[in-house]
Parts: sequence; C-alpha cells; structure tokens
Amino acid sequence: MAWTLARKWLFHLDPERAHALAAGALRVLGATGGLSRPRPDASLRVRCLGLDFDSPLGMAAGFDKGEVLVPGLHALGFSHVEVGTITPKPQAGNPPPRLFRLPEHRALVNRMGFNNQGVEVCGERLSRLVAEGRGIVGVNVGKNKDTPNERAVDDYLSAIDGLHARADYLVVNLSSPNTPGLRELQERGPLERLLGACVDRARPLGKPLLVKLAPDLAPEALDEAVDVAIGCGASGIIATNTTIQRPGAVASHPRASEAGGLSGAPLAPLSLASLRRAHARAAGRIPIVGVGGIMDAADAYARIRAGASLVQIYTGLIYGGPALPRRILEELPELLKNAGFSSVQEAVGTEIRPG
Ligand SMILES: Cc1cc2nc3c(=O)[nH]c(=O)nc-3n(C[C@H](O)[C@H](O)[C@H](O)COP(=O)(O)O)c2cc1C
Repeated sequence: MAWTLARKWLFHLDPERAHALAAGALRVLGATGGLSRPRPDASLRVRCLGLDFDSPLGMAAGFDKGEVLVPGLHALGFSHVEVGTITPKPQAGNPPPRLFRLPEHRALVNRMGFNNQGVEVCGERLSRLVAEGRGIVGVNVGKNKDTPNERAVDDYLSAIDGLHARADYLVVNLSSPNTPGLRELQERGPLERLLGACVDRARPLGKPLLVKLAPDLAPEALDEAVDVAIGCGASGIIATNTTIQRPGAVASHPRASEAGGLSGAPLAPLSLASLRRAHARAAGRIPIVGVGGIMDAADAYARIRAGASLVQIYTGLIYGGPALPRRILEELPELLKNAGFSSVQEAVGTEIRPG
C-alpha cells in the first residue's frame, strides 16, 4: 500500500529524477544499516561461478552504474549486485530524455548510452566497500562510445585491469543497443577475438568472466555465441539485455517509437526463449543467468526451471518497489517445495515442455 502511494508520487517525476531519489535513499540505507536484510531460506543457496550466493536473486546491471549502491541493494535482499556498465573513460551518455516509462505494460525504454564516471572513479568507490557482508559484486564492463570496434578489445581489457581486484565476477557487455555498433561484436569472428582476449586476461586473475547477450540474436547466432563462449573458456552467459523489438501491444504505445532498449514484462518471452536456447546449447557446461522481464517470484521460478542458475531484475524493482526482492525470497522456497524440489539448484533446467 505504502509503495502504491510512493510509486504514484515517484511516477509523476522524471524517471531519471526518480532514480536519483531512489539511489539517494539506498545510499543512506546502506550507510546507516537502516534496514534489516531478509535472510533467504537455506533452500535458495546457490554455488555458481565458484562463488556462494545466498539466493539466486541479483540486481541487474545498469541500476548501479558505478555510484556503488551495493550495501543498500544488498540490504533489500539481493545476493549479488552487478555494477556497470563501466567504461575506461568517464562519459555522459546520450542527451536526456533517455529513459521512458510504459506503465501500462510494466516496461521501460532506455537509451542511456553507458553514462558512467569511468574505471578510476568506480574502482575508487568499490575499494571503499567493506568486504564483510556486502554480498557478491559483479562488475560489468564496456567500451567508450568514441572507441571504434576495431579497438574495442583495448577498452574491455583496460576496464578489466582497472576493476578486477574489486569484483567477484566480471561481465563483458556486448549487447547494449545504445552504443552504436556494439552488438556487432556478438558475431562469431569479433566475439572469438574479444571474448578470448578477455578470458585470457581474467583467468590468471582468478575471476570468472561472463558475456551478456542480446535477446535479438537469431536462434542460430545465439547458438554460435554460446559455442564461442564455451570455446573461449568463458564462465557463463547472461541472457539477456534489453530488446530493440517492440513486441505485441507495446508497439502502439506512444513511447514505443523512442529509440532504445525495451525492458520489463514485454521482454519476458524473448528473454525466456533466449535463456532456454542458451541452456539447451550449453548443456550444463556453463551456467546461464536469466534476466529480462522477471516481475515476481513466479517469473523467477519459471526462469530457473528453464535453465537459469541465477536470476536478475531491474525493471521489476521499478514497478514492484523495494519490497519486491524480499517478496521473491519469501515466495520462491514455497514454489520449489510445492513442486517437490528441496533446493533451487535441483530445479535448474527441469522445465518439461510439451512437444
Ligand atoms: C535504465 C536501464 C539501464 C541499463 N543499463 C545497463 C547497462 O549499463 N549495462 C547492462 O549490461 N545492462 C543494462 N541494462 C539492462 C538490464 O541489466 C537488464 O538486462 C534488462 O533491463 C532486462 O531486465 P529487466 O526486464 O528486469 O529490466 C539497463 C536497463 C535499464 C532499464
């Protein structure tokens, strides 16, 4: 009820202004410890990427673009927070307005364009995090807009060099629709070169490295990307980023024609299909992180059964509010138990599909 009212008020504000207010509140919560963190049920523990997650539920990249809101987000119940995307140099991103709500669809369109303060500032902030009780921190890296694709690998390597010491895992983001040409790096040749170089850099540092993919890859291209990721020795795949598609009824929304990536409920079928396919192709060789349109515990559960070892949310938090992680952590054990699973790990990829 309180959230319904707060959301009404927040949704009157410009979306970026609302985000800044939420970030401020999270910073205070994190600094003061003014929230008792929900304690996830033991059945939700996940061992993945060589790390112990106290639940599969994480904060997806883009919410914390290096402001380092990790303690506040951890206090909401997330087991892990993916900070980023961080680029080597600071950059302003696209001019506002660049974030739009489509409330009728529980969706967002964004073309932020990797606005962030760069490796140095982010690294400095991350280094001030107290390791104890901060949860797991992923760092998602990208290239600066003015770096041509031919030199993209230099940006990824420099971001890995600058931030690996502060990260429990690393993510190579090749799937944002808001950096021109970025998604071409998901094609076999460029992907092999870029991901291969990043894995070679991260391996001796002892950090798992994942690749985040778009939901707009054709099925065969997705298979190929999974093959390359496994061939290169990547530790996992994140499926998916936002979509440039405007599926179904979203297409007629006044905001649908805004350039950018669509997230939230209408993305769910596309992300789910990508996850299923990636899981089938990977056949257990590397874990898949499911993200895209997870709005509640039932969605998270379905994603786990479709093959996600971990799940992440972003847009769900905007519509569901700060109590959503707690709710998911409360409801997920029930869903597992009712289906006869004693742990979340047991349920991964157990979906039975007709036909
Ligand atoms: C405003 C906004 C900014 C985002 N920025 C990033 C980003 O910088 N890097 C990234 O890998 N994903 C970014 N994402 C994508 C999310 O991490 C996630 O993959 C996507 O939104 C789908 O999940 P959702 O439907 O739960 O939001 C962003 C999403 C939104 C809505």
